[in-house]
Amino acid sequence: MSTSTKLEAILKDVADGAALPLERAVTLPRETYIDEEFFAFERDNIFKKDWMCLAHVSQLKTPGSFVAIDLFDEPLVVVRGHDDQIRVLSRVCAHRAMDIMPDDPSFPREGETRLLVCPYHKWSYDLDGSLRGCSQMHKAEGFEKKDWRLSEFRSEVWNGFVFVNFDGQAKPLAAQYEEFSRLIAPWNVAEMELAIEFEWECEFNWKVMVENWMESYHHIGTHATTLNPSMPGELTWADAERPYFIRAHLPYTDKLRAELRASASGEGPKVPGFRAIKGLSEDQANEWGLYLGFPCFMFLTTHDRAIWYRLLPISAGRCKLLTTTLVAPSAKEDPDYEKALVSEGEMLRNFHSEDMVVNAAVQNGLKSSRAVRGRLSHLEEPVWLIQRYLAARAAGRYPEKANRAPYHGPQAMQAAE
Ligand code: FES
Ligand SMILES: [Fe+2]
Repeated sequence: MSTSTKLEAILKDVADGAALPLERAVTLPRETYIDEEFFAFERDNIFKKDWMCLAHVSQLKTPGSFVAIDLFDEPLVVVRGHDDQIRVLSRVCAHRAMDIMPDDPSFPREGETRLLVCPYHKWSYDLDGSLRGCSQMHKAEGFEKKDWRLSEFRSEVWNGFVFVNFDGQAKPLAAQYEEFSRLIAPWNVAEMELAIEFEWECEFNWKVMVENWMESYHHIGTHATTLNPSMPGELTWADAERPYFIRAHLPYTDKLRAELRASASGEGPKVPGFRAIKGLSEDQANEWGLYLGFPCFMFLTTHDRAIWYRLLPISAGRCKLLTTTLVAPSAKEDPDYEKALVSEGEMLRNFHSEDMVVNAAVQNGLKSSRAVRGRLSHLEEPVWLIQRYLAARAAGRYPEKANRAPYHGPQAMQAAE
């Protein structure tokens, strides 16, 4: 089979699967997780055409603060300029193409700087990428500094998150995620700060990660003792399909709700965590609000924090992940804040370690010739929605907004009454 015929066959299988109703849904073909040609297709047709999240503004507080990130053979630096603008610049020097921040312990990959300096021949660039200084170039005929600069990628800051769009053609994120913005408005995410961060080298496909992130059927097995007691998988549900993001709800048990109420009023023991976010509705304060901004912006709201996972796909079987916790500035006023940082860091590390084990084991299973296209539970609706996004993007479109009540969960029951 020629390579393009192979890719076409996989894409047809993806499209056929995505066309099935949820009740008959199956998993994606295994090739979509392990085939490098399919990954290259995703890179060129999805990741480079959509918005990828790189950083949060709290990592870039002052002019000159920067973070280096590598994505799809593009060495990038996210940097705040003297004009306070955040830009995504290429780290490729305009002289002889050196990556100006080599991946070596002697060169910082984040921090604060006045100029971006290439270590090779010391060409120096302003924080907006324009060439500021270069010595011994006065005999180069017609050479003018203004013609040389670090290249810039299209970026957008949305609710404090810095996104890049490589091909420069995507619809503005503010428009794509307009409803997403409204739903998370009470958390004021742009004002929040990254308080906890862990980096993970992942030996699995990016879709293994986002599927695991979005479905909570696995609480029953993977998180039986960690998340399931407070957010049992069978109570979780998803909103109807949207073009640019998925939203799922993980309601707290009545027991946890009562404990939070007692803790807030001082009538019961303090529930571990941060100071509660103000201005949340009953529903917002009593669930984990789980989101996937397509293709791989993983975001979650709770009564006292937000959680963000930054995923950088590397190849079919590998990606790099940063798991974070964001807190409101007022959380720091709590005398127990430092203690909470430790306990909540452990909490995140514990449940994510459980996910790391299953994700690597899923990838291992997908490599096997015996992996089949399994059937999905109604609790795995987000997995089906991810497939539908993939199939739509492969066809050059986005999913359509479904005008109906959710298939299950409390709103589905209300609609049925
Ligand atoms: S390659 Fe950067 S200064 Fe020469
Ligand atoms: Fe999980």
